[in-house]
Amino acid sequence: MMQKRQMEILEHTQLTEEIFRLTLAGGIGAKPGQFVQVGLGPTWEPFLNRPFSVHNCTKTTLSLLYRVVGHGTRLLAQKQRGSILSVVGPLGKGFPPTKRRQAVLVAGGIGAAPLYYLMRMLRAEGKDVIFLYGAKTAAQIVLEDEYRSLAREFYLITEDGTAGTKGLVTDLLPQILGENEAEIFACGPNAMLRAVAQTAAEKKLPCFVSLEAQMACGVGACLGCVVATADGNYRRVCADGPVFAAEEVFRFGS
Ligand SMILES: Cc1cc2nc3c(=O)[nH]c(=O)nc-3n(C[C@H](O)[C@H](O)[C@H](O)COP(=O)(O)OP(=O)(O)OC[C@H]3O[C@@H](n4cnc5c(N)ncnc54)[C@H](O)[C@@H]3O)c2cc1C
Ligand code: FES
Repeated sequence: MMQKRQMEILEHTQLTEEIFRLTLAGGIGAKPGQFVQVGLGPTWEPFLNRPFSVHNCTKTTLSLLYRVVGHGTRLLAQKQRGSILSVVGPLGKGFPPTKRRQAVLVAGGIGAAPLYYLMRMLRAEGKDVIFLYGAKTAAQIVLEDEYRSLAREFYLITEDGTAGTKGLVTDLLPQILGENEAEIFACGPNAMLRAVAQTAAEKKLPCFVSLEAQMACGVGACLGCVVATADGNYRRVCADGPVFAAEEVFRFGS
């Protein structure tokens, strides 16, 4: 159930120049794909909380994996072990339960964050997981061993070829899917999600995408995060998503 909690930082590790993993004390009972809004200071500045996906969640801990991109994440990166953060969540609708035995997870950059928890839960249900992890360059790949150890098959793809295969995750996806009756779950930049959704549509496979949007309230009240849907309506990423069926947000062909 959604709550506002004061949570203590148990661990805060810098994984690359820009990417950090933060582990907080306390379970929040989140589902894979849900997110939390994190307050960044004891003052009103910055005024708005920042949204982060649940990277992992146990009975006693909550982990986030984040990239420093601006003011809020720079402040977050300075927080020390033992500091207290205000956390609202779990929020939003997560990934739906899988109906098929095989799941293909497609991560682009920091989009890998929520897919770790999803993969852990899928493995606990005895599902087969194929994980495609794409990034611009090797320096943006984190926790490779942890992702690799959970997946039945694991593929690394970088745009500049500095790690794994050179190219885009979406180049490899059709061949990985083959004739498999898989379900696809993706999180990453919008262009990647669109290409994943197109492949899924061509192969007539179910596909769920986790979207990002700039958020204010995070709970469905301000309409600051709306996206246009394929049927010409609008949905709130925070409350109706962030996970959507791909056909709800992307339309292909006539
Ligand atoms: C549901 C959801 C889950 C998210 N999960 C994660 C996560 O697990 N790890 C992670 O690193 N980030 C995640 N994000 C993105 C994260 O919320 C933003 O990077 C963060 O709020 C930026 O705050 P800032 O103050 O550092 O940047 P700002 O100073 O506010 O902005 C810096 C730059 O980033 C852009 N930006 C800010 N927020 C977003 C956004 N939501 N989408 C696209 N561009 C943005 C701004 O336009 C600007 O160019 C998630 C966002 C959403 C909506
Ligand atoms: S952020 Fe306010 S409605 Fe989504």
